[in-house]
This record gives sequence, structure tokens and C-alpha cells, in this order.
Amino acid sequence: MCGIVGYVGKAKAAPIIIDGLKRLEYRGYDSAGIAVLHQGSFHVAKEVGRVAAVQHTLASSPLEGTRGIGHTRWATHGGVTRENAHPHLSSDGKIALIHNGVIENYAAIKKFLLTKGYTFASETDTEVLCNLVAYHFEKEPAPADGGSRLLDAVRKTLLHVQGTYGICVLGLDCPDELVAARQGSPLILGVGPDELVVASDVAALVSRTQNVVYLKDGELVAISGNTFQITNRDDVGVDPVIDQVTWKVEDSELGDFEHYMLKEIFEQPVALENAMRGRFSADESTANFGGLNLTPNELRGMGRFMFCACGTALHAGMVTEHLIERFARVPVECDHASEFRYRNSPLFTNTLFFVVSQSGETIDTLAAMREAQRKGFKVLAINNVVGSTIAREADGGIYQHVGPEIGVASTKAFTSQLLIGAMLALYLGRMRDMSVRDGTEYVAALKQAPDLVREALEQAPQIEEIAQRYARYEDMLFLGRLELFPIALEGALKLKEISYIHAEAYPAAEMKHGPIALINPECPSVFLVPQNEIFNKVISSMQEIKARGGPIIAITTAGAELPEGLADEVITIPACHEAVLPIVATIPMQLLSYYIAVARGCDVDKPRNLAKSVTVE
Ligand code: M6R
Repeated sequence: MCGIVGYVGKAKAAPIIIDGLKRLEYRGYDSAGIAVLHQGSFHVAKEVGRVAAVQHTLASSPLEGTRGIGHTRWATHGGVTRENAHPHLSSDGKIALIHNGVIENYAAIKKFLLTKGYTFASETDTEVLCNLVAYHFEKEPAPADGGSRLLDAVRKTLLHVQGTYGICVLGLDCPDELVAARQGSPLILGVGPDELVVASDVAALVSRTQNVVYLKDGELVAISGNTFQITNRDDVGVDPVIDQVTWKVEDSELGDFEHYMLKEIFEQPVALENAMRGRFSADESTANFGGLNLTPNELRGMGRFMFCACGTALHAGMVTEHLIERFARVPVECDHASEFRYRNSPLFTNTLFFVVSQSGETIDTLAAMREAQRKGFKVLAINNVVGSTIAREADGGIYQHVGPEIGVASTKAFTSQLLIGAMLALYLGRMRDMSVRDGTEYVAALKQAPDLVREALEQAPQIEEIAQRYARYEDMLFLGRLELFPIALEGALKLKEISYIHAEAYPAAEMKHGPIALINPECPSVFLVPQNEIFNKVISSMQEIKARGGPIIAITTAGAELPEGLADEVITIPACHEAVLPIVATIPMQLLSYYIAVARGCDVDKPRNLAKSVTVE
């Protein structure tokens, strides 16, 4: 959470930083600020609200200067106020700092700094960090080897800090320098011909350069003029590996769409094509993955799979659990990454771990992965962001290849995770008892997924009308069974995160064990009711809701015959293979939440209290 950008180059820093921050706003958007070092002073602009508010301020009082730092905040310590917005200046005015993360021992450090005469204008942990850098900068002499005094002060500061950080630091007395460091929060260095840019995400860099260095935990980068040097926490030099970013600036632009969420919903057919491209074997009866780093023999030897993830990504893991158990007949367990890391549950020896994470930076998922690796297990990652921390630390994995997902509500990343889960079930199934014939049929079904999603998207106008009628409700239930129960969970999550309607999801038959008490004419239920072996069971659950006056929206498959008058609204999706059904059934859920949120006047792409990438615990 929080987005940070630092710039050192020949161009004016402020417009570049503002542009970068706008592209990072999905990481946090309650306040923003920028500091530029020019002619021996820091010039700071900070505002509560969006980056646009800072941009507005700068329009009347532009900031000169070719080095600077900027931040878009998701509040942790201290409320949403101008004082708490970053950048922070040390009380002696000599250091400016931006920070993404949480300093856990800030209270003790603050107590110490108060005894040394430092003062505080905000309630943040970041200001404590900033003053501690100032303290070390003042206290320590310049390094004898002629090295950077700012780097030295930052390094000494970080030795005393517990928690997570991605930081950029400027020093008034070192006008040519910028020091950045990371521990637990992402940080990437963009290396342009005449400039260096540091940011939390490549999205903020690609308009300046495609050449990037993904910094690792414990690394510091010291920029001086147009050169940089990376060192690790032991002060040993690190040879930079410069990677090429494949994303283009246009990939993260809104185009003609009103919201990123809607754009990304409609990108799904192409996203699915990209996620499956080149991943079917020549004989078309199984899937292929390049980066698993396990031999077929090793994979076949795994007696159990474990999926850890958070939020939407966890729902993708839960659908994959159904598919792997059904088609490969291997037991699978799913856990909230945040719980797994502290639960210390007993684990079977031949278990293969998967983590699922769009961003690859979710701290709970990363910690769960590290915990499993610490216990000696291999962990594979299903991940979208190339070069993310999870991608780099995993033992192997599968990239989603769906391009940047900007909307805070995950859409195309989710359906591509479902597709990859379905392909994995096929791959593992074909290693065991699935026949060539069933495999061939399965592949043919998966290949239809993009077109089936296109067909489902054609329902958008009808779903928009339904949304108008249901936007006034404050409670909703989402009900599905088997592999569609996680889709019901996802429907409820989508609705609550962007429209702030209270929504819960259950396996449909669970209703009578308690939740049915909620049913009344003011609490609609969204039922996933495809034609399958338990169709009639779900119909019975619907009857129970109808009998109690609960309005019903039914999402069903073409050809299924719902009893006349049972559902108040019927949305029909194409009939399809059960491995593809979760993907197709997701589409109306996404559209319904989107149009309800729009009808309620909610800020769809920047829902309150949320951030896209959750890098704090
Ligand atoms: O980047 P990740 O996939 O690890 O993110 C996990 C969750 O934070 C994320 O899916 C969250 O639930 C989304 N906002 C849901 O739309």
C-alpha cells in the first residue's frame, strides 16, 4: 500500500513524479505529496485527497528542480490529514523522506529522538524514520572512504528499524543524491539514458524507461547524478541485473472506458487468450507449463496440494481445489495466507504449495510462502506481475500474462487465475487417470472460454437494468454450490468492496442452518444455478427463499428450465464444461457489482479504505 516515486535526472522532476503517482494511485489514495530539492531548499506540496489535488496546487505554484520524491498514501499510522501526508521533513529540515510500509518499533525510536531534541509535526511512523536518518546524518562524520554520507545515515537508521519499508530519501546537504531502500515493500529502479527513477511499481516507470532493476529485500540503492550503486544489508556491492519491462504505457490507460474495472471486465476474453497461449501440448490432450521447475515425476509424486492466497486470489485457489480434486483426484487444501503463516498446522511431507497473487506483493501471501519454504516445501506461484517479490522468491510458477490490472476490484486477474487453475487440474489429471479422450475434450472446452466470456459480456445491458432495480438494497446474499460456491464468495466480495452493500456468500444448502433467518423482502439473493447434477437441489433452496419473501436473481445456464416465477430476475450464461463454468459464471457477478456501484455513485476504481496491493499486515 502507498505508492512512491523518486526522480533524479535532467528533466523537471515534479511533472514526472506526478505522472508516476497517478499511475500508482491504486495503491492508496487518501492523500498525496511531493518534495523537490532546488537551489538549496526543499519545496513541498501536500494535499488530502487524490494526486490531482497536488497537481492542482502545482498548477498555480510550479516546483522547479530536477530531483524529487512523491507519495500517494494509504493511511496506517495517523489519520488522513495534510500533516500526515508524505513527504516528511526532519525537524532540522535537512532530510526529506517517503515511505511505503510500517515501522513497528516507531514508538521507542520516537521516544529516543525526543530526548535528542527532534520534534514531530505528524502522527506517522514515517516522520520518526525521517528524523532518525537526520540524527545519524548529523551524528556520524562523512565516511572515511569518501562514500555517501546520506547512504551511510540511511544504512545506520535501517539497522534500528523493525517492520517493512520501501523508502526514498533526499538530503539537503547532498543535492546530487537520492537513497532508496526496501524491506518487505516493493521497489524498482528505472534506468533511463539521462535519468534514474525509483518507484513501487513498473507502472510509474514505463513512460520513462523499459529498463528496470528489481531491488531485493535488504538492498539499498544510492543514486548520485546519473550513476547508481546497489549494496545489500551487509554493505556488499550487488551487481545490478537490468530487466526489460514488457508492459507498455498504453496498457495502463483508460481509453474510452469510464472505469478501469469496466475496461478490465471487457478485456477478459483477450486476457484469457493470453493466459492460455502456447500452453497446450502438441497432441492437444493436456496443458504445458514452462516454469514449474519440477519434473513430471516429481509432480506425480506429490500426494497433496496446498493453496495459500488472500481475497479474490483465494477464491481462485478454492475453485482450483474443486477442479484438481475432481479431475486429478489429488487432495487439495486452501488456506487464507494470513492464517496459514501463524497457524503452524501439521503438513504432509509430499505436499506441493501454490500461492496465488495478482500483484505478487501481498505481504500475507509472501509471508505464507516464506513460511512454507522455511519448512522445506517447494512453493509455486500463480502470479501476474513479472519480477514481483513473490515471482522472484517462488521456486517456480505460472505467469498469468494479463497485463496490468489497475482497478482495485480484481476482475481479469481472477478469471485468468481460474483458467490457470483449470489448466493445472488438466495437467495433473492427465498425469494420472484422465484419458486422452477426456483430455482432448477438456482442452477444446478451455479453448472456448474466451468466446463464451464474450457471449456472457453481451448481457451487460440487461445486467445494468437489473442493477438499477437492486442498487437500493443494503444486504444481499450470494449462493452457489461446489465449484460455484467460491464464485458466490467472489460475487459477495466484489459487491461489498465497490458498492459498500453488506453481502455474504454461502453454499446454497447452508442457508437453512442459520442464514435463512436474514431473508425478507429487503434482502435479495443471487443464486448460481447452472444445469448440473444438483440443479434440483439448488432449485429447492431457491423455493425456500421465495417462500419467505426474498427477492431472487438467478444466474443460470442456457437450456436450464427454472420453475416459472421462481426467480425475479434471470441472467442466462452459455452452457459449458464444468472447468470453464466458474469463469463464465463470474462475468454476470462482476457486471452486477459494477453497475450497482455506479448506480450508487461509488468511486468504483478507488473504493473507500482499500488499496490494490496490500503490503502491510
Ligand atoms: O495481489 P493479490 O492477488 O495478492 O491480492 C489479493 C487481494 O488483496 C485481492 O484479491 C483483493 O481481495 C481484491 N481487492 C479483490 O478484488
